[in-house]
Amino acid sequence: MSKGTFYITTPIYYPSDKLHIGHAYCTVATDTIARYKRMCGYDVMFLTGTDEHGQKIEEKAKAKGVSPKQFVDEIVEGKGGILDLWKLMNISNDRFIRTTDDYHVEAIQMIFKQMYDKGDIYKSSYKGKYCTPCESFWTESQLKDGKCPDCGREVHDAEEEAYFFRLSKYADRIQALLETPGFLEPASRVNEMINNFIKPGLEDLCVSRTTFTWGIPVTFDPGHVVYVWVDALSNYITALGYGNDKYNDFGKYWPAVHMVGKEIVRFHSIIWPAMLMSLELPLPKKVYGHGWLLMDGGKMSKSKGNVVDPYLLSERYGVDSLRYFLMREFPLGSDGSFSNELLISRINSDLANDFGNLVSRTVAMVIKYFDGTLPLERSSDPIDDELIGMAKALRDIYEQNMEGFLTQAALIETFKVISRANKYIDETAPWVLAKDEANKARLASVMYNLLETIRITTTLLQPVMPSSCEKAFAQIGAVEKDKAWDNANIFGVLSANVTVQKGETLFPRIDLEKELAYLDELLGGKTEPEIPEVPTVTIDEFAKVRMTVCKVLECENVKKSDKLLRFKLDDGSGTPRQIFSGIAKFYKPEELVGKTVVACTNLPPRKMMGDESNGMLLSAEKDGALNLLMLDDTVPAGSTIC
Ligand code: ME8
Ligand code: MG
Repeated sequence: MSKGTFYITTPIYYPSDKLHIGHAYCTVATDTIARYKRMCGYDVMFLTGTDEHGQKIEEKAKAKGVSPKQFVDEIVEGKGGILDLWKLMNISNDRFIRTTDDYHVEAIQMIFKQMYDKGDIYKSSYKGKYCTPCESFWTESQLKDGKCPDCGREVHDAEEEAYFFRLSKYADRIQALLETPGFLEPASRVNEMINNFIKPGLEDLCVSRTTFTWGIPVTFDPGHVVYVWVDALSNYITALGYGNDKYNDFGKYWPAVHMVGKEIVRFHSIIWPAMLMSLELPLPKKVYGHGWLLMDGGKMSKSKGNVVDPYLLSERYGVDSLRYFLMREFPLGSDGSFSNELLISRINSDLANDFGNLVSRTVAMVIKYFDGTLPLERSSDPIDDELIGMAKALRDIYEQNMEGFLTQAALIETFKVISRANKYIDETAPWVLAKDEANKARLASVMYNLLETIRITTTLLQPVMPSSCEKAFAQIGAVEKDKAWDNANIFGVLSANVTVQKGETLFPRIDLEKELAYLDELLGGKTEPEIPEVPTVTIDEFAKVRMTVCKVLECENVKKSDKLLRFKLDDGSGTPRQIFSGIAKFYKPEELVGKTVVACTNLPPRKMMGDESNGMLLSAEKDGALNLLMLDDTVPAGSTIC
């Protein structure tokens, strides 16, 4: 039976570039809470999406020579795009909104007009400082050292005729809202908002633009487009059908819990509620301002270049391991330092050593001692009590933490029980019990207690690691009822004569050193050491290098890479050879078809962009200029250089 509805949202991300691990962090946190609430029995609506209008996107599209819509379509829906990323990461969103969706556009025009008709939006002229990457106007006094207070980048003077929203009118009600316990969390962010924005006096907000066109037109004043934040914030209600006929569950799900990064708490806890006040709608239940993942002390950002690709990390380490790491390593409300080393260490210590090992040891013992099926005889011992007590108490502790969005603490508590179970194996020494048939009932009890502890902890790990938990459940022989929230505070739910099943290793151990070296290379983090002198090679060494004359059969750009070209070559062998070469900046693919080139053909195959490259094309390089080595077309394919 449903416990009621629960509506939770992520920010809608700018599709101005590929998303990085920071975006994945917020989305995984929101997904974890959504899955937790569903498990508890709530009717959950989980919304995410993309914020597609604004000057920044317009400029990026122009630089790429495509229309803004083509530009965002590729990033959102293209191969390896945002939709693919969330699918890969097992994000369970119920809806995905794009602010270029027709129903949203119509609704925004209606919302803008409604606030205008009410007198909350009026026309005036604007002079101020503008930060293009943040799409934010600032007054002189709001700047930090003359720079954008949000991102620290340069701002420029801007003046335009514009519409304004009467934010000032709502200042008192907003202050009262901010001071309402539970509205803005963590609580530390409340004073930040009051001191930085309410106390200096809330100024009216510029809510239209005329300096660019990539936005939603103001219906009653063509030439003006709606300020991207008014457009973006409203997604939370348009996605439920407010102001449109596409959906019809605004009444059912609104108000929401908004999960956002700390830098946009101002928009969500001040501007958004004021807009809702103007529209006379219920205010958000909660705004949770999570912390940033930092790298090398700075915020990761699409505009700074030190990004970490969640796609790549998911594929390499497994989605669940990455999800677990993100939720376990960092307290949601504070900033944290991201590093590859932390990621791998955490996977090894908690998932491979503690949880994975507990499951595989237990299952292996049940198979070894009982052929996989527990007998019904039991014999308990006081030594069992602590483990059973901890396992039974866990769900309530976990629930308390999850309700407060203390996802890290919920996982720490769960792993205390997992560690206790591993210790219980050492204490009970099943391998000793197994030596004497007289201990059969006692050994069965020990195994059952371990399986039950695994069942309970796995149930509670489901929101973070949904697919690995399914695998663990299959191994311990759990059926549907065994996985239920309602049974997670009861010990003794698993069938007494349960049958376990050997399965794959849930979390393989990773060789830290090797892996870090690999990642360094992959992420381009390793700078090639300068070679002081050109070393000499012997004639024998030189003779080992096989260089073959090839004809270019096909050549094309590689999606998602502005460096690589993919070649199909005739190397004289009769089988076309595929080689990737990083020369896309210097040649158009069509220029190269039919050319006679030279490739080193006895290098080991290398994985590039998920595909195999078999060799390397030779080029001549000087001062950054590059010329592909080309021979006279009369030289036949398959000739070797000697
Ligand atoms: O601000 N650490 O979109 P955005 C943790 N379109 N979280 C991070 C992060 C980091 N280093 N970097 C980004 C926008 N995030 C607007 C939102 S909502 C109506 C409009 C996460 O693409 C964090 O949740 O810049 C942050 O608030 C969000 O991504 C910003 O994404
Ligand atoms: Mg941002």
